[in-house]
Amino acid sequence: MARPKVIITRKLPEAAELRARELFDVELNAADTQLDVAGLARAMREADGLIPCVADKITAELLAASGRRVKIVSNYGVGYNNIDVDAAKANGVVVTNTPDVLTEDTADLALTLMLATARRAGEGEREVRSGKWTGWRPTHMLATRVNGKTLGLIGIGRIGRAVARRAHHGFGMRVLYHDPFPLSDAEAASIGAERRESIEAVLAESDFVSLHCPATPETKHLMNAARFAQMRNGAILINTARGDVVNEGDLIDALRSGAIAGAGLDVFEKEPVVPDALKGMENVVLLPHLGSATMETRVAMGMRALDNLEAFFGGRAPRDRVA
Ligand code: DGY
Repeated sequence: MARPKVIITRKLPEAAELRARELFDVELNAADTQLDVAGLARAMREADGLIPCVADKITAELLAASGRRVKIVSNYGVGYNNIDVDAAKANGVVVTNTPDVLTEDTADLALTLMLATARRAGEGEREVRSGKWTGWRPTHMLATRVNGKTLGLIGIGRIGRAVARRAHHGFGMRVLYHDPFPLSDAEAASIGAERRESIEAVLAESDFVSLHCPATPETKHLMNAARFAQMRNGAILINTARGDVVNEGDLIDALRSGAIAGAGLDVFEKEPVVPDALKGMENVVLLPHLGSATMETRVAMGMRALDNLEAFFGGRAPRDRVA
């Protein structure tokens, strides 16, 4: 029997591509170029299964197109806001994601941004590299302490919990959270997390606010002018979730006016475009969507996406079905 045809839109770590070749009649993207809409449409016509990434918009038009052959979209990522899930359901296309495997590394990156922003690491690095450092002095580049401060989490799913564990046990932080789905008492106690009834209540008490909610129509621009006004003046925003969750224009205004003290951002509204206003601010640390970017995790994400395809084509329920 012919093996299912699978198209992987971007280059994956070698181990995952080798596994893909073992399992499927696979089309890889050795040049690692982004597929345009026509390229994605061709992939939807020519493959049985597709592995796209966050930057590939799998729209209702692609999913509803006549001549579509793809029956499963196995997203390479835990977030799947790049896929029109309602259209997938309406057109009988299965959608899966890659949870669990990226939790720890994404939490590490949230802490990286928190520390780097609070301790002015980006600014300090730039000073050293530019040759402008004149030597040690008691008042040089004084920053904000992280240890013992209050961290507010918006969303307490897998990554939010992993961040809370690090912050509470590693940095002695008081951890507050808001999430529509509260933790059990035992789980909350194990990571030192206290629930608040509203996002506003978390913002009002937190020195650091870290976003860990999915990008949905409900969370679009969840952080906006009104919410920045609720944050403490010296507070720092961390976003490793999705750019859409933050109104970037309002964030720039809040940073300019001093309503908040800084931001550590791994994700942006119009990736890879980052507003020049943010690039010009010393109190902002900017990373190019690296949350899950370790070799270990990117291999594991590939294996997980392939496992989902293998199950589907083998007539079994894929483990990570989201639609
Ligand atoms: C994820 O898995 O959601 C990462 O942000 C990459 O898409």
